[in-house]
Amino acid sequence: PKRVRTRHFQNAKRDGIKITGLTSYDQLTARIFDEAGIDFLLVGDSSGNNVFGYETTLPVTVDELIPLTRAVAGAVKRAFVIADMPFGSYEVGPEEALHTAIRFMKETGAHAVKLEGGVRSAEQIRRVVQAGIPVMAHIGYTPQSEHGLGGHIIQGRGDAVQQLLADAEAVQDAGAFAVVLEMVPSDAARQVTERLDIPTISVGAGPHTDGQLLVWTDWAGLTVGRVPKFVRQYADLAGILGKAAVEWREDVAAGEYPSPEHSYE
Ligand code: KIV
Ligand code: NA
Repeated sequence: PKRVRTRHFQNAKRDGIKITGLTSYDQLTARIFDEAGIDFLLVGDSSGNNVFGYETTLPVTVDELIPLTRAVAGAVKRAFVIADMPFGSYEVGPEEALHTAIRFMKETGAHAVKLEGGVRSAEQIRRVVQAGIPVMAHIGYTPQSEHGLGGHIIQGRGDAVQQLLADAEAVQDAGAFAVVLEMVPSDAARQVTERLDIPTISVGAGPHTDGQLLVWTDWAGLTVGRVPKFVRQYADLAGILGKAAVEWREDVAAGEYPSPEHSYE
């Protein structure tokens, strides 16, 4: 299959073809999602919650994300792989952002990086893009600023749509090839999508964007606990795996596993 590149994102917006993305943190899921035709895989700092078991994404480090990103990038044939820049790896300034982006590009085989923030991160985006590294922006609700935003709160409601539009224009002007809109009202996302030339990707931003992205463990029913309202579950992996584990434990206890067919003579 022909590799997805940034031009695919641009063409998809032009042609009205929806872009799809899922998070992935390992080579097993990367291979499955790639073969299923998912356009891009984000090695998100949501791995903080879903792999490392942290309460938030804030503690995640570059050193933790690099091996996960390398596993995902090494497993795909077609999908575009995006490395998520974690909290504390780009806020200090454009040079820090570029340094981090270069690490991901050299050490993992990712095709692009993502970082959070609109106007406040525009100079970082510009510097990384100038070095030849594609950047996906991320505005609306930005989990790395959970404490500054006062919790898990929808952004861009009412008059705040003006700030969302300003953030969107800032990241486009800085050279981002696409922008994630997280947890914003559908109508605000529609306005941003109409205003921008670059594609918009919704995570809980309704149907009017150029593409959709979900955290794979939420989408596949593996996440234990609360899942956001905007997630539709396409599988019940927690149920399937839990049932399999109980059955296997019972078979071992009953002496039914291993049977002769699963043993060597
Ligand atoms: O880390 C992540 O999974 C993300 C998406 C939810 C946008 O940043
Ligand atoms: Na993230």
